[in-house]
Amino acid sequence: MKNFISAADAPDIEGLVKKALDFKNDPFKAKALGAGKRMGLLFLNPSMRTRLSTQIAAQNLGMEAIVFNVGQDGWALEFEDEAIMSGNTVEHVKDAAPILGKYFDVLGIRTFPSLQNKTDDYSELYINQFIKYAGIPVISLESATLHPLQSLTDVITIMENFDTKVRKPKIVLSWAPHVKSLPQCVANSFSQWINAWGGADFVITHPEDYELDERFTKGATITTNQSEALEQADFVYVKNWSTYVDYGRIYCNDPQWMLTNQKLSRTNNAKVMHCLPVRRNVELSDEILDGPNSVVTQQASNRVWAAQAVLAEVLKHKS
Ligand code: CP
Repeated sequence: MKNFISAADAPDIEGLVKKALDFKNDPFKAKALGAGKRMGLLFLNPSMRTRLSTQIAAQNLGMEAIVFNVGQDGWALEFEDEAIMSGNTVEHVKDAAPILGKYFDVLGIRTFPSLQNKTDDYSELYINQFIKYAGIPVISLESATLHPLQSLTDVITIMENFDTKVRKPKIVLSWAPHVKSLPQCVANSFSQWINAWGGADFVITHPEDYELDERFTKGATITTNQSEALEQADFVYVKNWSTYVDYGRIYCNDPQWMLTNQKLSRTNNAKVMHCLPVRRNVELSDEILDGPNSVVTQQASNRVWAAQAVLAEVLKHKS
């Protein structure tokens, strides 16, 4: 694995899940793999789980992990080629990234979308510029359109909670209300990974006007009828996203879309997933989050093993 920015970088998803679960069973089994190597973790945006789990994963592999909050502490970066830098940006990625490539062996980067310009966001300019100029492997810690470490974690958590040898689980990605415009990254990425994995009956439900980019959703059943979608579901993945077609807007904040125990009763005693952070009683109810069906803590704890499996593959490719 050279870089890790989407499901396309993981041709054998079940094999990667197995590697992650092997690390869960024996976290230090590959301690020598990263000895003497250094990972840079660049955050242009906030994070708790991604930052800490990736640091732990790197350390479990014997690497040193250094976090740099670029968005808070660094020079404002310019990403456009041939920019005349007379505005607020101070340093071009063309100058900064090669230096990071000398300091580190692997680079992790978080860059959220602006939600102002769909073409710019969906071009993934920021992470692609780092890939182009850093000269070392790049791991996405969530980019403008995708969150692959989260999605690998999600597949791991599903496989831990369901015997896929008996039958395919029914997995429902259900839109939830929110007070802010959020990126489509988690929903895009989850759809991309579940479709690429191919191990589930996959249904996406959302209000009208919340269609996602079909490059990620193609293959899923898509419906605006949440009640129907939830019937006999084995997993419900709850997530808000802003509109994709008329980009970055909130058209619906209907609390009826929030998952409750009454809605959950339609399912096959479904496990409930969310990537976190979550706004309680807006996006997801207390009764669900504090109830027996929630696997959100297990899911977040699996972030370590997903990151470790990916990092190990990148290190093997490098050496
Ligand atoms: N799910 C997730 O990426 O969490 P953080 O934003 O806290 O890293």
